[in-house]
Amino acid sequence: MKNFAPHPWVLPQPVLILGTYNADGTANAMNAAWGGQWDAHQIMISLGSHATSDNIKRTGEFTVAFATQKTMAAADYVGLVSGRKHPDKLVATGWNSERGRETNAPVFDCFPMTLECRMKRILDESATGFYLIADIVNIVVDENYLTADGKPDVEKMELISFDPVGNAYLALGKKVGDAFAAGKGLV
Ligand SMILES: Cc1cc2nc3c(=O)[nH]c(=O)nc-3n(C[C@H](O)[C@H](O)[C@H](O)COP(=O)(O)O)c2cc1C
Repeated sequence: MKNFAPHPWVLPQPVLILGTYNADGTANAMNAAWGGQWDAHQIMISLGSHATSDNIKRTGEFTVAFATQKTMAAADYVGLVSGRKHPDKLVATGWNSERGRETNAPVFDCFPMTLECRMKRILDESATGFYLIADIVNIVVDENYLTADGKPDVEKMELISFDPVGNAYLALGKKVGDAFAAGKGLV
């Protein structure tokens, strides 16, 4: 085994697309890998100082979509360019959005699944950002990505994951087993 110094190498990391409204009502989006489930109905995101962070503090609401192979290039782009410098940032993505059913935040139509979220708590705020805890208040799933019994079909979504070791996007693969079941033979 080889040993390495500490790095932000938790694996796998998500490719979250945070959707917010700018002060002028236009939609913005950014890429975030440092986020995840906080509690049953809450998520956590580690946010730097961005247009998105300003928007969330102003409106209290945002969306979280899961990037796919099809949206990969634009998902990377929204992580490279800031709405602070480029108010028309989203034009290059070609993404269209509608206001969420439960939140004042954009739901982009190119993602199979989107969480609508409402800010709950901000932790450890500093000049460089803050940790955001938010309630999930609605989950929107494109009907093309549902199983026959009406649940989100994650295998169909062609989601991508962020690999912080190689600075790469990886395809999320096929189902290989049943959770809370595959290990039962060893109990
Ligand atoms: C792969 C990737 C992951 C990123 N993860 C985060 C993150 O977890 N938190 C964060 O604050 N910024 C993260 N960023 C940087 C923001 O997406 C980037 O600064 C973006 O331009 C902010 O846009 P805005 O100013 O329009 O909100 C990430 C960027 C990339 C490309």
